Amino acid sequence: MKHRDKVVVITGAGQGMGRAMAQRFAAEGARVVALDLQESAARDTAALLGEPALGLACDVASAESVKAAMQAVRARFGRLDVLINSAGTGAVDGFLDMPDENWARVLGVNLTGTFLCCREAAKVMRDVGQGGVLINVSSTSIASGEGPGHYCASKAGVVGLTRSIARELAPLGIRANVLVPGPTNTPMMAGIPDEWREQMVAAIPLGRMAEPEDMAGVASFLASDDAAYITGQNLAVNGGMMFL
Ligand SMILES: NC(=O)c1ccc[n+]([C@@H]2O[C@H](COP(=O)([O-])OP(=O)(O)OC[C@H]3O[C@@H](n4cnc5c(N)ncnc54)[C@H](O)[C@@H]3O)[C@@H](O)[C@H]2O)c1
Repeated sequence: MKHRDKVVVITGAGQGMGRAMAQRFAAEGARVVALDLQESAARDTAALLGEPALGLACDVASAESVKAAMQAVRARFGRLDVLINSAGTGAVDGFLDMPDENWARVLGVNLTGTFLCCREAAKVMRDVGQGGVLINVSSTSIASGEGPGHYCASKAGVVGLTRSIARELAPLGIRANVLVPGPTNTPMMAGIPDEWREQMVAAIPLGRMAEPEDMAGVASFLASDDAAYITGQNLAVNGGMMFL
């Protein structure tokens, strides 16, 4: 029960890595708040976890929505110990034809969403005065460049943001780190052709794609006191396919 009674807010917790993280933290004693754009998915995750978990609708790209969600957390639990920004989105766009609205949407969710959630969560942590942990999810594509420009740019931006806030919030006892997944078996990856999947797995020294539970275990470590002296870092979880 490594995280007993901690209040852990996870964005994008309606499926994939976010849901696996929610299950892991709940199993380790945390009071989990599952946030997702899809309210029904957030509620389903909370129902899987049982009391006292909470499932709320939240669009991380909207400042109002994020403020409302963090206020709801404060009202319900009076504190916030860990925030994990797992909500993410992408679009299959070539650079020369990239629609402006897709650029804005992907940056809006992946980068601005991470900024808004970190800012609002950190205010609660500051007010409570007992520190906290921020975990932002990036992607191995920041190193490989394998991915559309908006997605790679947004995920690289998450790294710069996290380094800055790690320095600035350290005096408040708030640590901030980046979890950098490689290809992971979630609904986001479900649509890819078998041929691509096979090529991807062939490039992974450990010989398999990650499972969402692999990410959940690392998030649990980063949130724990075992990681008390780690801040501003990238932790790559990719079976050895890339060294960051
Ligand atoms: N799956 C992979 O191979 C992989 C690899 C590297 C990085 N990532 C990153 O890991 C994170 C989790 O990915 P996943 O595979 O679990 O994805 P997923 O698509 O399975 O789940 C993402 C969740 O985020 C939610 N979401 C989307 N937009 C949102 C918004 N505006 N506000 C709130 N919630 C929103 C979705 O509803 C969904 O429940 C993402 O940030 C993704 O970019 C994934």
